[in-house]
Amino acid sequence: MDANTKPVILTGDRPTGPLHLGHFVGSLQNRVRFQDDYRQFILVADAQALTDNMGRYGKVHDNVLEVMLDYLAVGIDPAKSTIFIQSQVPELTELTFFYLNLVTVSRLERNPTIKEEIRLRGFERDIPAGFLTYPVSQAADITAFKATHVPVGEDQIPMIEQTNEVVRRFNASVEQEILVECKAVVPEVGRLPGIDGSAKMSKSLGNALNLSATADEVSRAVKMMYTDPDHLRVSDPGKVEGNVVFTYLDAFEPDTAMVADLKAQYQRGGLGDMKVKRVLEDRLQAMLEPIRTRRAAFASDPAEVMLILKRGTEAARAVAAQTLDEVKRAMGLVYFD
Ligand code: TRP
Repeated sequence: MDANTKPVILTGDRPTGPLHLGHFVGSLQNRVRFQDDYRQFILVADAQALTDNMGRYGKVHDNVLEVMLDYLAVGIDPAKSTIFIQSQVPELTELTFFYLNLVTVSRLERNPTIKEEIRLRGFERDIPAGFLTYPVSQAADITAFKATHVPVGEDQIPMIEQTNEVVRRFNASVEQEILVECKAVVPEVGRLPGIDGSAKMSKSLGNALNLSATADEVSRAVKMMYTDPDHLRVSDPGKVEGNVVFTYLDAFEPDTAMVADLKAQYQRGGLGDMKVKRVLEDRLQAMLEPIRTRRAAFASDPAEVMLILKRGTEAARAVAAQTLDEVKRAMGLVYFD
């Protein structure tokens, strides 16, 4: 397929920490799958990360390389996907500035994701304006590339709705179809729980297993993993629902018949946690070992990794500049040749 006829994906992450198994299941695996059939742009959202990290510049800066290493380690291929860094594409900021006039403050305050994040961060009435308006900057990220598909978790769906509102308002305001509406692509697999059994794996909850984890860390995480608290003796019947070890086996073990057997045996009684955990640990170690090896290889040459990011950024900038030019022309913002 010609690169220019492929549907376009825009996706990305805030570089605020190393990526974990939750990211792997929720997005990284799909990016590796999508990169052949889509023209895929992957955004390292360092500027968006600052909307709630002002002053923590070192953290954001240092995690850019970590996230790049995670991307390359899982098999995102810079020859197929364009990986770029947000702060070095000023066209995105310009688009944001114009789009802000198409969005009301009350609409932003009603964005369910923003509302929840404001609550979680305890901003109350002291909301940084940049944080409140990050959905608009996200609309710029997406529309600059005329993305048709945006892979996101459930919690990001309001961002896509708001992006499409901006698209419709802008196109109506200039009476031309310049910007393109996009579709959210939500992964079929459910969200991966934390190793402690809570609904979400997250760095801040301290229940994550990082993609860069050492073999020892993987081993320790599996040993700590939440199972069935009432499964005290091996002979006791155990519960598989809410049992993280089985949830992870469902997510990562391709031999589904074997997992079904283990579940049946566990539910009947006679299968100990230790044994199931050993099966899971073998699976996770086998899966993470090649990722860790590739990560280490890339980590030995950070300059090369940053060069990949630089080249991707140049390519992304050319596309964003084209869209910005169309947007400015449509608004009559051309004065000189
Ligand atoms: N909000 C995303 C996150 O928190 C990162 C992001 C920024 C993004 N701009 C985007 C995701 C555009 C999809 C599309 O990880």
